[in-house]
Amino acid sequence: MMKETADFIFRGINSPVEKAEYTWQSPSNIALVKYWGKKGDQLPANASLSFTLSQCVTTTTVKFEKRDTDRQNLQLFLDGKEQKAFGQKAFSFLDKIRGFQPFLQDYHIQIHTKNSFPHSSGIASSASGMSALALCCMSLEKELNGNVNSDFFYEKASFLARIGSGSASRSVYPKFAMWGQHHEYANGSDLYAIQVPEKEVHKDFHTFRDTILLIDQGKKSVSSTAGHSLLDKHPFRDERYRTANNNITELKHILEKGDIEAFGNLVEQEALMLHALMMSGPESFILMKPNTLAVIEKVRNWRTETGTPLFFTLDAGANVHLLYPESAEPKVLEFIQNELIVYCEDKNYICDNVGEGPQQLKP
Ligand code: DP6
Repeated sequence: MMKETADFIFRGINSPVEKAEYTWQSPSNIALVKYWGKKGDQLPANASLSFTLSQCVTTTTVKFEKRDTDRQNLQLFLDGKEQKAFGQKAFSFLDKIRGFQPFLQDYHIQIHTKNSFPHSSGIASSASGMSALALCCMSLEKELNGNVNSDFFYEKASFLARIGSGSASRSVYPKFAMWGQHHEYANGSDLYAIQVPEKEVHKDFHTFRDTILLIDQGKKSVSSTAGHSLLDKHPFRDERYRTANNNITELKHILEKGDIEAFGNLVEQEALMLHALMMSGPESFILMKPNTLAVIEKVRNWRTETGTPLFFTLDAGANVHLLYPESAEPKVLEFIQNELIVYCEDKNYICDNVGEGPQQLKP
C-alpha cells in the first residue's frame, strides 16, 4: 500500500542500543528517464526510471555511540581522512531526517566512507553515498525497533535517501527502479522509489551493460541541485514534464517487450533533452565537452555501419554512458579500445552493468 510522510516517523524503541556499527555498500544508478526539476520539499516534478549499477559503489560504515554529553560528535572520514567540508553534507542530511529518526540525536556518529570510483571522475557520488548512509541509519532503526519488515526497511531507506539526494532514492533496489507518481505504476510515489517488478522487465535488460567513458574528470560546473531549480523558470518546463511522463509509459512497455531499438531511441532522446534544457534555460550551461559530441557521433555512425545495438545516455556532466546488451559486449569493447578511448581523459573508462542493489557488509 502507498505510504504517506507520517508513515515514516519512527515507531518507538523496543530494545535500547548503546553502541552499534553498520556497513553498507550501495551502488550508483543511471537514469533512463531523467529526474530534472523539483516541486515542494525535495519531490520530483516528474517520475524517473533508472537501472542500478554494480561496480560504481560507495561503502559506508557508521559507528553510533550513545552520548551523555551535551555536544554531539559528528565526524566523517573519506578514504580514511577526516573531511570537515564534505562532512557537512552528511551532517545536514542527518539533521534533515531527524524528524523521521529522532533517536539519531542520542548518539555520537562517526561515518567512514569510500567510493569505488575516483572522487574527481565526474561520477556523482550522491546517489550511492546518500543511499549507503540512509541504509546504515535504517539498520540502527531496525535494531532499536525490532519490528521492521524488509519491504518497509527499503521503502524507508529510499524515503530517507531521497531527502539527501533525489536520485539516491532509486539506488536501494536491485535492477530497475522508478521514483515518482505515475499512472502506469500504481505503487509509484513521490516520497520514495519502488523496484520495477522483475517480471515486467525482459530478460535481455537484466544483464544490460553501462560502460562509462570518463571524458572530463573535473568538478561539475553546475550542481544538480542548482540545475533542478533552473527548470522553475524554463520556457519549456511544462512540455518537458509532459514528455517525461509519456516517456515513462513508453519505457514501461519497451522494458516488457525487450525492444532494444526503441529503448536506445528513447534513452538518447532523454539524455539530449536534459542537456538541451540546460543549454536553453534562462541561465545557460553547456556541460558537454567537444569529446562528448565526438563520442556521440562515432557511436551513431558505428551503429549504422555495423547494426550493433549500442546507445548512449548522459548525466548532468560530460561523461558518456554507453548502454548495450550483454550479447554485444565483445564487439563494443573492441570498438571502445580502437576508437573511443582517445576521447577519454587519461584513457579512463569504467565497465559496469545492471546490478543487484545494496549489500549489508557488517554485521
Ligand atoms: C541528471 O539526485 O543529484 O542525474 O536531488 O538535488 O540531489 P538532488 O539531485 P540529483 O539529480 C540527478 C539528476 C540526473 C538525473 C537522474 O538521476 O534522474
